[in-house]
Amino acid sequence: MSQHLLNITHLHAGYGRAQVLFGVNLSVNAGEVVTLLGRNGMGRSTTIKCLFGLLPVTQGELVFQGQRIDNAPSFQIARLGLGLVPEGRQIFPNLTVTENLVATARTNSTNGLKPWSLARVCQFFPRLAERQHHLGSQLSGGEQQMLAIGRALMTNPSLLVLDEATEGLAPLIRAEIWSALAELKAEGLSLIVIDKNLGPLLKLADQHFVLEKGRIVWSGSSAALANEPDIVHAYLGV
Ligand SMILES: Nc1ncnc2c1ncn2[C@@H]1O[C@H](COP(=O)(O)OP(=O)(O)OP(=O)(O)O)[C@@H](O)[C@H]1O
Ligand SMILES: [Mg+2]
Repeated sequence: MSQHLLNITHLHAGYGRAQVLFGVNLSVNAGEVVTLLGRNGMGRSTTIKCLFGLLPVTQGELVFQGQRIDNAPSFQIARLGLGLVPEGRQIFPNLTVTENLVATARTNSTNGLKPWSLARVCQFFPRLAERQHHLGSQLSGGEQQMLAIGRALMTNPSLLVLDEATEGLAPLIRAEIWSALAELKAEGLSLIVIDKNLGPLLKLADQHFVLEKGRIVWSGSSAALANEPDIVHAYLGV
């Protein structure tokens, strides 16, 4: 049996007849931060959709904490301890900040992490405390992202996945998000982070997985990636 928190093996998926993933392999150990890197359209969000039961897995295995989750219903996957901050944030525009946070809250006494509550999320993101009665639609992009993270934390996940952690945010807000993620890591929460800013990812993450046309073409530590300018140039376009 695998000791990984999450183990994705040989994942195939696509949209109708258009196959996008061709055997993705990726694993996350407990307490680790892992990135999924690649240029636009390489299959990062598609991988995440499969992980959360939002897109059918056509081949392969997804094992989370020893349980098969491929093609399981999304609510069950969330219950097992996977939390998602989706691409585009997808907060509820007509609910207040507080309502957004409590909408999907649940306890999870089994993961050994300090539990999240409305009060704790408001302490973690003081901007959300100030905006508690505002509607989701009235928030800035940065506040919306904090809300999306807070909402995922309210499910008390064991593994938090962020698809585009800082996309479209101003530099100062981005820095706030990176330091929030570092705090979460320091508490022992495991993360999968997708983002275009390699610098902060190299500081935060333990392992990187580079996707190219639906296949993992490189994986390794931050130190190893920092020493591979050719990989960075060829597959990340920076
Ligand atoms: N709903 C969809 N229907 C059909 N094709 C899709 C759909 N969503 C994505 N694709 C295609 O699947 C491929 C992978 O897309 P994916 O969203 O996984 O990319 P990505 O790596 O997350 O990049 P980015 O977020 O920058 O677009 C792309 O060719 C994209 O056009
Ligand atoms: Mg994407």
